[in-house]
Amino acid sequence: MKLPRLLFPAAIACAIICSCASHSTIGAGKDVEQRVESILSKMTLAEKIGQMNQVSAGADVSNYADALRAGSIGSILNEVDPVKINEFQRICVEESRLGIPLLVARDVIHGFHTVFPIPLGLAATFDPALVEAGARVAALEATAQGVRWTFSPMLDIARDPRWGRIAEGSGEDTYLDARMAEAMVRGYQGTQLDSTSMAACIKHFVGYGAGEGGRDYNSTYLTERQLRNVYLPPFEAAVKAGAMTLMTSFNDNDGVPSTGNTFVVKDVLRGEWGFDGLVVTDWNSMGEMINHGFGTDRKDVAAKAANAGVDMDMMTYGFLSHLEELVKSGDVKVSTIDNAVRNILRVKILLGLFENPYIDVEAAAAVQYAPEHLAAAQKSAEQSAILLKNDGILPLAPGRRILVTGPMADAPHDQLGTWAFDGEKQHTVTPLQALRDRFPGKVDYVPGLSFSREKRQGFADVIAAARKADVILVFLGEEAILSGEAHSLADLNLQGSQSDLLAALKTTGKPVVATVMAGRPLTIERDLPNCNAVLYSFHPGTMGGPALANVIFGDVNPSGRTPITFLRTVGQAPLYYSHNMTGRPYTGQTLIDDIPLEAGQTSLGNTSYYLDYGAYPLFPFGYGLSYTSFEYSGIATDRAEYGVDDTIEVSFTLANTGKYDGEEVVQVYVRDLVGSVTRPVKELKHFERVFLKAGESRQLTVSIPTEELAFYGLDMVKKVEPGDFQLWVAGDSASGKPVSFKVK
Ligand code: NOJ
Repeated sequence: MKLPRLLFPAAIACAIICSCASHSTIGAGKDVEQRVESILSKMTLAEKIGQMNQVSAGADVSNYADALRAGSIGSILNEVDPVKINEFQRICVEESRLGIPLLVARDVIHGFHTVFPIPLGLAATFDPALVEAGARVAALEATAQGVRWTFSPMLDIARDPRWGRIAEGSGEDTYLDARMAEAMVRGYQGTQLDSTSMAACIKHFVGYGAGEGGRDYNSTYLTERQLRNVYLPPFEAAVKAGAMTLMTSFNDNDGVPSTGNTFVVKDVLRGEWGFDGLVVTDWNSMGEMINHGFGTDRKDVAAKAANAGVDMDMMTYGFLSHLEELVKSGDVKVSTIDNAVRNILRVKILLGLFENPYIDVEAAAAVQYAPEHLAAAQKSAEQSAILLKNDGILPLAPGRRILVTGPMADAPHDQLGTWAFDGEKQHTVTPLQALRDRFPGKVDYVPGLSFSREKRQGFADVIAAARKADVILVFLGEEAILSGEAHSLADLNLQGSQSDLLAALKTTGKPVVATVMAGRPLTIERDLPNCNAVLYSFHPGTMGGPALANVIFGDVNPSGRTPITFLRTVGQAPLYYSHNMTGRPYTGQTLIDDIPLEAGQTSLGNTSYYLDYGAYPLFPFGYGLSYTSFEYSGIATDRAEYGVDDTIEVSFTLANTGKYDGEEVVQVYVRDLVGSVTRPVKELKHFERVFLKAGESRQLTVSIPTEELAFYGLDMVKKVEPGDFQLWVAGDSASGKPVSFKVK
């Protein structure tokens, strides 16, 4: 049966233009291919199908021993005990007919034992090198225990903060997401594959972050053009960076569940990008195609997944139970199975598992929580903290009596955030602990609320303590469990009585410094007036406490930037900076209270906005304050006109005009004024961190190849369309004045 897809002619056009890549995207040379063929030639059909089966580990190795011996498991997820992993490998290598080692997988999402900030927090660093270093640490710790495959990075563009999994990705922007994707792939896999390489799995392919209403697992309706211009580029960048594996997503897009979507898996991923790595389903996403109403039974969906180009089945047992009969009936070709097994073997060979399937159990323990890993996690948490408000109270001068309060001040489990399976809270350093270590005897602690959802009336104990303090440090946010998979929310205000706690603190007249640790951008507009300063750290991980103390007391000047638009109210979702202009762009029209009584119906002069909240967010994408101030001047392109193969050189002067040394995240945005289809009002095309001493200024030049301006227009072919462009160099997506240039 032919599967429906979005726009057929474009795929043909692209297939012709791009043609299949002839090289291996995951770095397999001829020798690897020969080994693959040699193993494949010895395999029975049952052994091939066994390789395509991934199961989750149970408590007892004997549960799997027979299946491993028979060669009916190609990969196990969720086993991290090095002794058990060695035993699994021993059975596969020594007791199965062909001795094919196992691929052991785990969701190592933002660190293994040493937990880094959640991926959304990592994206806030706008620092791919730092993110790469963090992924390397995760790989060192996880591979030491035998995990050679992580289901990360998640590359789902997310523009609706109700979606709990927004925590797991890099936010709303295609360009930022793509740079973070490359960094994580490099970090996990290493620049050279060796025994510390952990295969990256780019997920969820594709569109999963665009579920209706921010509800997890929900349907998406992305057009081919949206997919190609917004959702697919981070995946393509990661494939080019050598990502070894990819996971299909749970959602159905325009009626086609990803795990059976021939267009995205076969045509785009394999055909256009030439991906020769391993494609795995999400957990039972093959089986869920029955729930979707896309297949009658497990046999039917197994055929659909195999024929769409899926190589490995995570936890449906659809391949294991039905592929043999599907081959016999001719519904799945042997060549399809052979290709899948090639993709799996290629990864196992490249990871060196055939040569070295075992791990050194004793050495494994020494790698975990190494001091340099904790230091890297702390640096990431420092750089990911975003200063959203500061009336001048920060950085805090030492020597004052401090009241620490709030449900996240001492929440060692919750500050690790979602998907921190292997993080252990006894290793977490909370803000309370860090502040007590730093100022012995000067810190009082009254939690006020013991967890983020707690509802309480009256805060007499906190107010009494606040009266004795010089400054209040309140740590608010969300428990880890309120974001992540299956944890969408319809209300994004601070949970429980946290806003009431803030309001109570405000009545004391003492300065209030709030730090928010959350899995998403919460709607904190109503809380801002009650704080003198607000630091947003997302969930900062193991070393969040010392990192935040360093930022609050000025050892580190905050430099994190919002990787996602912060909404004033949840009803604005989705709201993102790179929207299209529309026919009636907002120009600041009447708000609800200005409307006269019994006004007559009229649309004239009105634009695209909400009567009650206007059109602007609370904080735009790319935003974040510093203890110093930066100024841009003299922004100019080197030419007024460029050819489609040229490079645009933009120069400008950046000055640190404040009193502190600091790092600015320079951002370059572009707008294509007229296209064959309408184009976003701005798109990020470059960012970099620039450190300047107080008072220093520097002349800088940024190069942007004109090809960066290419997009899929009316004919669905990627190209630069000549015409007029505007370009901004600024510290966030809402600032700066544009300069103009043309492309001929
Ligand atoms: C389901 C999640 O969607 C996916 O991201 C994860 O990697 C798998 N489960 C395996 O745990």
